[in-house]
Amino acid sequence: MTDMMAATPAETTIADVTDPGPGDSSVPPEPTGPVRENVFVLDGVEVRYSGVRAVTGVDLDIARNEITAFIGPSGCGKTTVLRSLNRMHDLTRGAEVLGSITYHGENLYGPKVDPAEVRRRIGMVFQKPNPFPKSIYDNIAYGPRINGTRKRAVLDDIVEHALTRAALWGEVKDKLKSSALSLSGGQAQRLCIARSLAVEPDVLLMDEPCSALDPIATARIEDLMEELKEDLTIVIVTHNMQQAARVSDRTAFYTAEADEHGRRVGRLVEYDVTETIFTKPSDPRTEGYITGRFG
Ligand SMILES: Nc1ncnc2c1ncn2[C@@H]1O[C@H](COP(=O)(O)OP(=O)(O)OP(=O)(O)O)[C@@H](O)[C@H]1O
Ligand SMILES: [Mg+2]
Repeated sequence: MTDMMAATPAETTIADVTDPGPGDSSVPPEPTGPVRENVFVLDGVEVRYSGVRAVTGVDLDIARNEITAFIGPSGCGKTTVLRSLNRMHDLTRGAEVLGSITYHGENLYGPKVDPAEVRRRIGMVFQKPNPFPKSIYDNIAYGPRINGTRKRAVLDDIVEHALTRAALWGEVKDKLKSSALSLSGGQAQRLCIARSLAVEPDVLLMDEPCSALDPIATARIEDLMEELKEDLTIVIVTHNMQQAARVSDRTAFYTAEADEHGRRVGRLVEYDVTETIFTKPSDPRTEGYITGRFG
């Protein structure tokens, strides 16, 4: 596996930290207590576009095997913060991420970190399903092929496994050579999730993944997220309060307010266990939003 960092052998790399390693399988695992293992720690994060602040004051700890929801009114910076977690802003001219983001304890924006490897480990699913204009099979095999997997039998296994995990295998196993563009919206979104899973990510970032889907397809994706969090860490942006309440372990509420120059800037208002956010939030702005009085 390619290391995310071009490090000298003596240094610990992000790959070392995230790979479980061989270990001694005869030793039973320690009972897991309430200890949360942080995947991301954001400290004083601010993102600017062409020098203009879009979102500021973001302090968050995102834990392994949890689903973290980002909620808040349009324009408050949810997508902007989400994209800072896999260095997508590197691809946007003029975008700048300030403050500190660590990933498994390492500076995500450190000079030795390879952004392409970051985006492999930290996959992203977008609001609008974006299957490639290729066959279903080739969509899933795309990432593994780029990573150097050539053997047909190995690719076959990866494709079946990823589609099974994404709860799509049964619907497409007899038409793997058909164009992915022939799938329904809900199927296409599960295909995109399968495509992300095929490169075995550590984290899945989902930006309003269900907003174009009907309630049945939405329920399938929510069930899927619940299963996937056994193995991965998920961060989801959603405008659907019930969805955030149903699926997430923790919720971050953002809002946008005018700064001293009258410019709207997104801010993290409150971050807590989802139940607390929805039943006894500590900030009146959170309560106003979740009860529909604001935003
Ligand atoms: N590429 C960009 N260039 C310039 N400004 C941008 C860019 N992307 C987002 N912004 C601005 O940053 C702010 C936050 O946008 P963002 O897309 O993060 O909001 P959001 O909370 O995801 O909103 P929505 O719920 O509508 O998706 C907005 O003021 C937006 O106009
Ligand atoms: Mg958005």
